Amino acid sequence: MFNIAIIGASGLIGRSILSVLHERKFPIKNLYLLARKEQEISFDDKVFKCNRLDEFDFKSADIVFNATDRSVIMKYMGDIVESGAFLIDKSDALRMDKDVPLVVSEVNYEINKDKIEANKIVASPNCVAMPAAIILSALLRKTKISHVFMTALQSVSGVGGSGTKGLLEETKKSLMSSHLNPAYFEKVIAFDILPKIGEINSDLSSTEELKIKKEINKIIKNKLYMHVTCARVPVLTGHAIDMHIPCDLSREDAVKALKSMECIHVCDREDNTYVTQRESAGEDEIFVNRIRHIDGVLSMWVSYDNIRSGGAINGVKIAEKIIQSLKSTN
Ligand SMILES: NC(=O)c1ccc[n+]([C@@H]2O[C@H](COP(=O)([O-])OP(=O)(O)OC[C@H]3O[C@@H](n4cnc5c(N)ncnc54)[C@H](OP(=O)(O)O)[C@@H]3O)[C@@H](O)[C@H]2O)c1
Repeated sequence: MFNIAIIGASGLIGRSILSVLHERKFPIKNLYLLARKEQEISFDDKVFKCNRLDEFDFKSADIVFNATDRSVIMKYMGDIVESGAFLIDKSDALRMDKDVPLVVSEVNYEINKDKIEANKIVASPNCVAMPAAIILSALLRKTKISHVFMTALQSVSGVGGSGTKGLLEETKKSLMSSHLNPAYFEKVIAFDILPKIGEINSDLSSTEELKIKKEINKIIKNKLYMHVTCARVPVLTGHAIDMHIPCDLSREDAVKALKSMECIHVCDREDNTYVTQRESAGEDEIFVNRIRHIDGVLSMWVSYDNIRSGGAINGVKIAEKIIQSLKSTN
């Protein structure tokens, strides 16, 4: 049994980690829920106490999940390292650090295992980079790829609970008035799409787009040319990615390659169906829809719960692999 701490337990990712740990029956001895302020969290008909992070002693934990942003983890990382606990970081603070493995449990845990066990720090990728890396790694086992073109349609919960609240507030107000001020994003998002996530770089790409490209290539250890556009859409939970990959893999072989990944659900021609962003909310799998190979380009529409399958589950699966190694060495 293991002592688990969740930093940011009251947020969207933190709550989802709590729920996934519970569902997957993670062997927990003591659970420490931490946030900025003391509060109660209701989950599964139970009420959990969430304590203040700044009063916590990390020596009590074996594994720490960070579900807050980079500034928080940078402040506490020294204490966590000193305590000897494993850190699984969901923020973008450490993802591109050359000494920290950026891990998708199904793709590259094993090749990073020694480093993870030695340094006890793992970064978990961005919620678009993660599913894209899983799909590309499955295809790369079967074919050569040099270029990828993708557009990510990201729900408002991608920025946390305040994005969700902002969309709900704007949507209600916009039904009553034509004059609306943005509630959270830089422009009104209710009934609209914002084709910019992060800041705009000098080449007019965005920081989010650059982040996704760098993270994918780090995970799959490749140098793919990636053309990425990110847009924020008025969906509460669930991201979608429209992916186009020039390659000579047939549709049938692509389907087989994708089906070989446990976390992927292929909505194949036989079901003649697709899963929307909204429908993906609460589900564990990454849905790959409308796979087609036309004029030398493999195309697909990917939908998934950004909080759960794009975030929390990967963290918990990494923790499961860590405890397997701990059990085998003890
Ligand atoms: N949302 C996604 O789709 C997604 C996916 C993958 C990764 N991520 C990453 O996961 C992290 C969490 O995202 P989220 O969406 O869960 O955000 P969120 O809903 O806004 O939750 C933020 C959490 O951080 C806590 N927090 C903020 N400042 C703190 C401080 N100074 N000390 C202690 N706790 C503090 C908050 O506690 P209080 O309640 O006390 O304020 C809350 O529990 C971010 O780094 C994000 O980039 C998000």
